[in-house]
Amino acid sequence: MLSNSKSLFDRAQKVIPSGVNSPVRYYDPFPFFAVSGKGSTMRTADNETYIDYCMGYGALLLGHSYSTVTESVKSRIDGGSLFCVPTEEEIQLAELISKAVQCAEMIRLVNTGMEATMNAIRLARAFTKKKKVVKFDGCYHGAYDYVLPKPGFYDGISDGIIHEASSQTLVLPYNDSESLEQVIKDDDDVGCVIVEPVAANMGLVLPEKQYLNEIRRITRQNDIVLIFDEVVTGFRLALGGAGEFFGIKPDLATFAKAMGNGFPIAAIAGKREIMQQLSPSGKVYQASTYAGNPACVSASIATIEVLGEAKNEIYPKVARTCDNIVSGIKDALKNFKLDYTINNIGSMFQLFFTDEKVKNAVSANKSDPIMFRKLFDELLKRGVFIPPSRSETCFISYSHSEDDADKTVESYYESLREVKQSL
Ligand SMILES: Cc1ncc(COP(=O)(O)O)c(C=O)c1O
Repeated sequence: MLSNSKSLFDRAQKVIPSGVNSPVRYYDPFPFFAVSGKGSTMRTADNETYIDYCMGYGALLLGHSYSTVTESVKSRIDGGSLFCVPTEEEIQLAELISKAVQCAEMIRLVNTGMEATMNAIRLARAFTKKKKVVKFDGCYHGAYDYVLPKPGFYDGISDGIIHEASSQTLVLPYNDSESLEQVIKDDDDVGCVIVEPVAANMGLVLPEKQYLNEIRRITRQNDIVLIFDEVVTGFRLALGGAGEFFGIKPDLATFAKAMGNGFPIAAIAGKREIMQQLSPSGKVYQASTYAGNPACVSASIATIEVLGEAKNEIYPKVARTCDNIVSGIKDALKNFKLDYTINNIGSMFQLFFTDEKVKNAVSANKSDPIMFRKLFDELLKRGVFIPPSRSETCFISYSHSEDDADKTVESYYESLREVKQSL
């Protein structure tokens, strides 16, 4: 059935490690290859069409190939693809972000989420003159040494990480502000707390009531820089991201994904006095050849303008579609008497095959991996593509229609029946 993808994968493996350019793209025995995407769907090298719930791991909030965005990029690149001197559009984009995001007094553009969080952490360390960083188990901030420490959800994820770097990062359980308070009491060298305000990299895990408020209170009382990693939630949960959604103002926030609707652009944003520490005026070095790339800047301006102009239509629509899909999946799960938890918020959801409440990495890990894999395969057979890993999140875009939702619920129903029968 996937014969073209199979031969492309055989070819890829000879020149690309494991045949993929990012590990989560690989699954057994080989992934399908994409040729195009439009709206809510992706077309494959085997001429199959899938309704996509991976949506560029959350980047494509408006949908694949959203014309306002692609037209803006097409018209921009005729005038050049890189200048490495400033452009007026970079100011325009920074102004748009500053207007949308409450904490964003100043903005520096970078290219990826990883670059944004890495530099935000460096800034926080420099500003507080303290070495240690607190992150939460199951939260993902990119693939670099400071944020991939053991122990935890990413335990054993990588060789080559030096202990001297990762030992400066303390890993605490998500949704447990008391452990944060205790660690800060015991260790006066903590300068930075970084958190995904909604955790979307251990499945989807929501902050419990008051959790984010408590983190804000504790960090403020101890002069610790609080970074909201809004790489997933930024512009997705609300125009002003999780900061707006939960009414909390971090000191710094990082954005990527939905701010460019599929184009590689990211931002570090936050308090003026901290942001001004960036070089060349400040002493925190950060640099990039491609930062402020004109094509990506124009994609981001177009995306944020669409989101700003139609926010009263877009955010309720994606949340409604998500609610409909989730309630259809719940009906099917009850029908087949399967143990489950579904977490959802706004345009994001994930199903866990456990009846335990999923509120941190330990409970997320209880989701049965074999059942999840069976679900993934069965959905794919029925034209629905979800992220292949149980530790990711399903994303709805503005382009997903009611028909897509109905077809998805039907596919989940049939797939969950197969999961049940396989037990
Ligand atoms: C919350 C979060 N932060 C940071 C990153 C890293 O972003 P990038 O893959 O653009 O480097 C990701 C990527 O999935 C993410 O989900």
